[in-house]
Amino acid sequence: MSQPYKRYLQEILIDSETLQNRVVELAASINEDYADTRKLLLVCILKGGVMFLADLVRHITVPHSIDFMAISSYGDGVRESSGRVRIDMDLRQDIADKHILIVEDIIDSGHTMQYILSLLETRQPASIRICTLLSKPSRRLVPVHLDYVGFEIPDKFVFGYGLDLDELYRNLPFVGVCKPDMQVGDDC
Ligand code: IMP
Ligand code: MG
Repeated sequence: MSQPYKRYLQEILIDSETLQNRVVELAASINEDYADTRKLLLVCILKGGVMFLADLVRHITVPHSIDFMAISSYGDGVRESSGRVRIDMDLRQDIADKHILIVEDIIDSGHTMQYILSLLETRQPASIRICTLLSKPSRRLVPVHLDYVGFEIPDKFVFGYGLDLDELYRNLPFVGVCKPDMQVGDDC
């Protein structure tokens, strides 16, 4: 099949144009809120946040630096976050006295973000805010205050635009819903 992802795609939830328009809106809010801020550091959570970050920063006019952190949750199965979170790659720089804007792909149960926040808060940044492309409010198990949210979405497993389907299809320019109970086989 020339486009193997189509086997798994139930529907396109957010098309490319809608994503790009919303990214521009989010960047405008960030530019306004951080207009007088020095030492702004965008912390991208790998790997899911990378597409969003790359598009977002192209519209951010406030001087800022970027850094990356890789986090994974492990345990109960691939489509559920277990609450057990592990840091795979830490930031390269000291964040003390910096204004931190975390850039994440999706907040589901909230466990991952709660972990990231509690970790970064110990390092005495000047402030921490969260910018997430997607949020599934109905799935939340721990409360997390979100400062910038691209889209609130229903309780469906989505992929594309940075989000993976068993590590594949992060490159798709849209956010699609995965057909229920589909497993990505070795054939693609
Ligand atoms: P949380 O800890 O339950 O909030 O899970 C957050 C992480 O789970 C995200 O950073 C994603 O890596 C992953 N995740 C949650 N929902 C989805 C989804 O619908 N598609 C792809 N990844 C997801
Ligand atoms: Mg993630």
